[in-house]
Amino acid sequence: MAQPAEKVPRVVVFDSGVGGLSVLDALQRQLPGHQYYFVSDNAGFPYGTRSEYSLTQRVHKVLRQIMPHLQPDLLVVVCNSASTVVLPSLRESYETPFVGVVPAIKPAAALSKTGVIGLLATPATVQREYTHRLVREFAPNCRVEMHGSGELVEIAERAIRGVAPGPMQMQQALQPLIDRCSEEVDTLVLACTHFPLIKQWIEPYFPSVQHWVEPADAIARRVESLLGKGQPGLTEQPRAILTQADGDLDALQAYLGKLGFGPVEVREIDAAH
Ligand code: DGL
Repeated sequence: MAQPAEKVPRVVVFDSGVGGLSVLDALQRQLPGHQYYFVSDNAGFPYGTRSEYSLTQRVHKVLRQIMPHLQPDLLVVVCNSASTVVLPSLRESYETPFVGVVPAIKPAAALSKTGVIGLLATPATVQREYTHRLVREFAPNCRVEMHGSGELVEIAERAIRGVAPGPMQMQQALQPLIDRCSEEVDTLVLACTHFPLIKQWIEPYFPSVQHWVEPADAIARRVESLLGKGQPGLTEQPRAILTQADGDLDALQAYLGKLGFGPVEVREIDAAH
């Protein structure tokens, strides 16, 4: 008797922009047995300057289209700005399991010897009560210096399209954090998924940092604990879906090609939330 076809778990990795790719790369390497879909809401980008209300409306609007279309077995909200506010209502609305990413204050506090932690995120994440609660709960004896920058998000978007940032630009974007903790900071949390993509340009400004805290491995462990290892060998090429046509599609396509993606698809979702 014929055996039922083995099912490859579908994992959607969702972000406003290319930040999701910093995590997707690790997921593909560590858990190659899942079918990956990268969804970038580039029509709604940037998320990191939106209010809680606007972001919640926007994410629900996008997922109302994406969930029935892709029918994922799990969805990773690879965006700190969104995860810090929208996960509870998503979990109420769908049966699908959601994995989020929130600022890694707890592991940072465990790693830091000087007790001075830097946190780079979007302006929205830095303002969120959720983030401040993490600091009170998990790093009460540390000094956590936060800097929210929309400029660094834009720099990351350009960098993966082949436009590297200049030193002046990086210095300017990072100066507020450099001023507050360059000597003593030994742990730096990259609490926006765009930032691991430009870490090589951030590192020189923080020579005292011993620990760079990024979320990719923790997310991979969480996905594995919920979905297992999947079906290595049965997966197809990962698919990338944008919510509007990209102004520099060739450059984006070239980067995605290196991660094994085929042609980018566009599923238009208008920018209004
Ligand atoms: N990558 C996202 C985050 O982790 C947000 C970037 C943006 O759209 O501003 O917060």
